[in-house]
Amino acid sequence: MRKPFIAGNWKMHKTIEEAVSLVRALKKELANVEGCDVAVCPPFVTLPAVREALEGSDIGLGAQNVHWEDEGAFTGEVSPLMLVGLCDYVIIGHSERRNVFGETDEWINKKVHAALAHSLKPIICVGESLEQNRAGETEPFVGGQVRAAFEGITAAQAKLVTMAYEQIWAIGTGLAATGEDANEIIGSAVRGTLADLYGDDVAQTMRVQYGGSVKPQNVAEFLSQPEIDGALVGGASLKAPDFSEIVKKGLAAHLKQ
Ligand code: PGA
Repeated sequence: MRKPFIAGNWKMHKTIEEAVSLVRALKKELANVEGCDVAVCPPFVTLPAVREALEGSDIGLGAQNVHWEDEGAFTGEVSPLMLVGLCDYVIIGHSERRNVFGETDEWINKKVHAALAHSLKPIICVGESLEQNRAGETEPFVGGQVRAAFEGITAAQAKLVTMAYEQIWAIGTGLAATGEDANEIIGSAVRGTLADLYGDDVAQTMRVQYGGSVKPQNVAEFLSQPEIDGALVGGASLKAPDFSEIVKKGLAAHLKQ
């Protein structure tokens, strides 16, 4: 059985002070939780302070983005080398990066290579728009995103990757997919594509999170599905009681399977 993994994507929220106080609260609320990997992904500038505040806790730390070069004339970017020793995970290809900042499949693939070369574990986001979903294009589109992200990645490297399937219209809107729908798409378009690329044995070891309006009230619906191994939580990860409740309820639902 794959160990569940629940990560909070804070997006562009929290000052350094606010970030530290949030993780201090999470440390307390999640101190006795076992059997679930948990991580927070705060903004770059808060990473050192959050890392320090997390000392002595099992909560992992991730960045929300990374460039693929180690250094260079790339104003405003942060390199994988700069993240080494600072965090364990890095979110790559979030739909906001793809759609608001124009990231392409090719860039995302370069970022995956760069992260893995520096021993940062990627959380690769994929997902279709409402129009694509309605037009029946979900499977080929999401499958294509997965193939592009893993171009040139070995099976041994792939095992270090977490996937996050997030339907774009479910992000920040309160309109989450049903657990069954998400389970089916993950099974076919995400894990199915990984099985095509690396074989079923490898695909079965890889964790796939669901993301998009996950809350304490609906997390059990997702984590009780066989193909869903965790959640990537945006808005509800900004409050310690909500995120802790998501972790506890999600883990309980996962264990009931
Ligand atoms: P949300 O965001 O939980 O606020 O919908 C999820 C995400 O974008 O990762």
